[in-house]
Amino acid sequence: MEPKRITLTINGRAHQVAVKPNATLLRVLRDLGYTDVKNGCEKGDCGACAVLLNGKAVNSCLVLAWQADDAQITTAAGLGTVDHPHPIQEALADRGGIQCGFCTPGIVIAAKALLDRNPHPTDEEIREAISGNLCRCTGYGLIIESIRWAAEKIAQQGGER
Ligand code: FES
Ligand code: FES
Repeated sequence: MEPKRITLTINGRAHQVAVKPNATLLRVLRDLGYTDVKNGCEKGDCGACAVLLNGKAVNSCLVLAWQADDAQITTAAGLGTVDHPHPIQEALADRGGIQCGFCTPGIVIAAKALLDRNPHPTDEEIREAISGNLCRCTGYGLIIESIRWAAEKIAQQGGER
């Protein structure tokens, strides 16, 4: 299979890459060094590989890289840094929503997609939004509380973040 040349814009930075037609976006992102995108199951079951693709949360293991040609991709690391975390990242870290951290990038992406479309979700809506994200450690309660707290903080800051 001949490689295809595509352009992926990841966290604002354009990359021109040659990809095999069957290469998943997950594999290509990790090969490019975006290892905050986690490889948990490679079959759409765990949500650890979630990224925003043109603003929509997708499991990158279920997307072929060429399907993301010319798209804007955001990984969890693209939302905030250790020094300047996004309120969702800050809330998860401060309020016990992280234990081993493996699921966290996917949870951050799911939460960001939720709060972008619904800035004031109920706990049930948060639970639904992260229903595709497997966490083996926390029991989800503190993750839901963290996302609720992040929503409040973003609202206090005047919305968009
Ligand atoms: S690695 Fe993609 S959903 Fe698990
Ligand atoms: S914090 Fe360990 S899998 Fe979620």
